[in-house]
Amino acid sequence: MNKNDYIIRLETENDYREVENLAREAFWNLSFPGCNEHYFIHVMRKHEAFLPELGFVLEADGKIIGSIMYTKAKLVDENGTEKTVLSMGPICIHPDYQRKGCSKLLLEHTFEKALELGYDTVINFGNPDNYVARGYKSCKKYNVCCEGDVFPAALLVKGLRTGVFDGRKWFYHPNDADAPCDDTEAVEEFDRLFPPKEKAWQPSQEEFYIHSHSVINW
Ligand SMILES: CC(C)(COP(=O)(O)OP(=O)(O)OC[C@H]1O[C@@H](n2cnc3c(N)ncnc32)[C@H](O)[C@@H]1OP(=O)(O)O)[C@@H](O)C(=O)NCCC(=O)NCCS
Repeated sequence: MNKNDYIIRLETENDYREVENLAREAFWNLSFPGCNEHYFIHVMRKHEAFLPELGFVLEADGKIIGSIMYTKAKLVDENGTEKTVLSMGPICIHPDYQRKGCSKLLLEHTFEKALELGYDTVINFGNPDNYVARGYKSCKKYNVCCEGDVFPAALLVKGLRTGVFDGRKWFYHPNDADAPCDDTEAVEEFDRLFPPKEKAWQPSQEEFYIHSHSVINW
């Protein structure tokens, strides 16, 4: 996208519903029939780990077509040393604007801001296809695992500068900002505030299942 054709700016309260609707359009039927990311965003903004200073929107053609959000999470090493890291997500681009480099703009813009704010690591679960071109690596490469020495294939780590990781093992401790999404009734109730949309199966749901159930063992 040409530099004159878009604006990246911080999300404001006036954008909340437009961004939630954008997330609903982008995530609908992607991981399961329907989606919960619009509700996730809604509750995340009130969570103590939420970082409004890294919540950005991408505007083009007079509307918001992209959104990115971050929360704080932590890594803990085997001696109990803690390190604050950024958990990225959700990120979404309106379906009409996908695969044109928009997420690249949002990710690179916020990586720079994050560095300025003193963070050096971004971690998120996701489809590697969307992130490896942005310099994310498998968690296994940095010895970052989940409880039980598990290295999920979808756990991706981005060092914002060189030399962040020194080979020691880190355990990832995500925050619980997404816990309210387990309440499917609350998700459904929130979803009724938006125009009706048909839930359906699509192949990306199988891809999501494979990615989210895979671990790296060697
Ligand atoms: C995933 C998503 C955020 C990517 O945004 P986007 O603006 O479409 O992506 P970009 O055009 O910036 O491309 C990002 C990278 O994806 C990859 N990519 C782009 N087009 C691709 C294609 N057709 N097939 C496979 N990979 C592709 C490339 O690696 C690209 O980086 P590069 O162009 O620098 O090499 C967007 O598609 C989206 O909102 N999808 C629905 C919600 C979602 O899945 N969010 C992420 C949850 S993990």
